[in-house]
Amino acid sequence: AVVALAPKDLAGHTVLVTAGPTREELDPVRFISNYSSGKMGYALAKSAAQRGARVILVSGPVSMAAPYGVELVNVNSAKEMREAVLQRAEECTVIIKAAAVADYRPTERSSIKIKKQSDERTINLIKNPDILAELGTLKKRPYLVGFAAETGKLREFGLKKLKEKNADMIVANDVSQPDAGFNVETNRALLLFQGGREVDCQLMSKEALAGEILNHILAELK
Ligand code: CTP
Ligand code: CA
Repeated sequence: AVVALAPKDLAGHTVLVTAGPTREELDPVRFISNYSSGKMGYALAKSAAQRGARVILVSGPVSMAAPYGVELVNVNSAKEMREAVLQRAEECTVIIKAAAVADYRPTERSSIKIKKQSDERTINLIKNPDILAELGTLKKRPYLVGFAAETGKLREFGLKKLKEKNADMIVANDVSQPDAGFNVETNRALLLFQGGREVDCQLMSKEALAGEILNHILAELK
């Protein structure tokens, strides 16, 4: 058998990756969520582990098994994801926030199944904590990579997130394209760096893009 050995160029690094959607519960049987499959985050975790990093994968509910050699931390809600990430942030040299965190959660969670009533109903929502923005304020802060899921104005919104969340890199992708973003095998991304550098990546598999992103992180850390 032919065994391709990945270079262990991330040895000595601890990389935390968040992946997948979060679920914000309304009652014991219902939740608000999104179409994130977790593929991009899992590809990053797998590639980082193969390249010798210690990898912590904080994952929302997805249908994939964790890659070999990765420390899996399962979470459901944005609040749980925040706890899991902040608890471990100090051990990390790199944090990659590939998760599609729900921006809002229901104001109240009913402990019993909500019964159907009138024809029209309103769900009240309250904003979730912004995990990436919170990481951006840490004193001893790891190299921070965020994603920007947009349906247009990629550069403009991506740069806004880079600045507002104090990230080192934003991977911006247009999720309205059929071959990029949620639930597909490929991605096309615009990488935006602190300091104004930009790298426009062509359409490629999420595995290949994961490799590219890690190459750039490594180059920036040197
Ligand atoms: N993010 C986060 N916590 C949140 C919301 C987002 O950590 N509560 C992170 C995501 O994991 C991603 C980045 O912030 O790395 C950008 O997420 P995105 O949804 O594109 O941006 P938002 O800031 O939520 O803005 P909007 O959805 O309005 O475009
Ligand atoms: Ca959002």
